[in-house]
Amino acid sequence: MRATDIIEKKRDGGELTAGEIRWFVDGYTRDEIPDYQAAAWLMAVFLRGMSARETLDLTQAMADSGDRLDLSPVIPYAVDKHSTGGVGDKVSLVVLPLVAAAGVPVAKMSGRGLGFTGGTIDKLESIAGYRVQLSDEDFMQQVRDYGIVLCGQTKSLAPADGKLYALRDVTGTVPSLPLIASSIMSKKLAAGANAIVLDVKVGKGAFMKGVDEARALAQIMVGIGVGAGREMVALLSDMNQPLGYAVGNALEVREAIDALRGDGPPDLREHCLVVGGHMVRLGRQDTRAGALDEAIAELADLMDNGGGLAKFRELVSAQGGDVSMIDDPDRLPRARLVEDVPAGADGFVAEVDALTVAQASLELGAGRARKSDPVDPAVGVVVRCKVGDRARADDPLFTIHANDEAMLARARELLRQAVRFSESRPQPLPAFYDTLYKEA
Ligand code: URA
Repeated sequence: MRATDIIEKKRDGGELTAGEIRWFVDGYTRDEIPDYQAAAWLMAVFLRGMSARETLDLTQAMADSGDRLDLSPVIPYAVDKHSTGGVGDKVSLVVLPLVAAAGVPVAKMSGRGLGFTGGTIDKLESIAGYRVQLSDEDFMQQVRDYGIVLCGQTKSLAPADGKLYALRDVTGTVPSLPLIASSIMSKKLAAGANAIVLDVKVGKGAFMKGVDEARALAQIMVGIGVGAGREMVALLSDMNQPLGYAVGNALEVREAIDALRGDGPPDLREHCLVVGGHMVRLGRQDTRAGALDEAIAELADLMDNGGGLAKFRELVSAQGGDVSMIDDPDRLPRARLVEDVPAGADGFVAEVDALTVAQASLELGAGRARKSDPVDPAVGVVVRCKVGDRARADDPLFTIHANDEAMLARARELLRQAVRFSESRPQPLPAFYDTLYKEA
């Protein structure tokens, strides 16, 4: 086979065979196909698209490009979750301990934040000592001993995706549905889950700005999962305004602890219960009508009776983290400068633009523009309102946590533009727009 033939076939709208796709992905992973040919191929895929069959073949080829984790010795039927990335999305920190506390073991590999979206691993690193990199043996032993692992992704998991994603990032080929879907699902398939809950974010603070686009992405990912023999649920959830109140690493850990104490923001609570409820139902392979509602009620109890928090503490301790920070969140990294931003006008909050809040948080140093950038765990923004709330001019709408005066001033400027008011009360935003189910 020749790379040029495969590029030209896709360029001219042809459908690639499984063999052609695998040959190309393997060749690129082994550095036998150069970046310039892979870039041309990605652009051809971007412009011509891929059939469902091609997308599944691409996903499987990427999943097979490195190790595939076999969880079966420690979890006979493993359930995983994935969020397409949002602002204030600390759901994994809350949901994983809850699900594990309900007796459904969870072993999840998460990512770091890039661009405006946060990453679970950066959040966990604000807990002193927390080890995000585990050896295969430690990973398996921890699942056996505690029924929960939350760590960073190993380099050996779907390495083709790592290379292709970096190339997409610099060739204008990121926003392609088959490329996004295969990128996400290759990592999920390689991570060994039997069932996967996808949390597909929709809105200003998400990759997918509209519900139709998000549904199309969710349908492709569900199709891939089912094609690969997995059980799938995809939720389409709102990301026009931040989830919960806190945006920033330690601030989000603190809010996750609040949620696990039964004292978190209502939207975060609802969100976590629904995502977790689906995970528990799938993990138990419980197909009875009412199984989801039962699971949600069980998780709500674990939020209110401290069962989930105890599991989180166990997780932090198992991975070497300082549990005194969980017992007393004031011990988490704290910023030097804390300042409220008042509403400046009377009215109903009609919009809290998640993207602008994320940009303010980035300005403060909570996120990274490049993979190698360090993050400041202490800084970020606490949003003090939700769409539909009434605000008076003096009410603080945001609290900025900063370690630098100039950064604080830039964040303040951005946050003033993040809110829009209306004279009449707007409808609160829904938590979810839709749910897609498909069993393999
Ligand atoms: N997340 C991924 O892992 N890959 C994409 O292409 C987009 C979001």
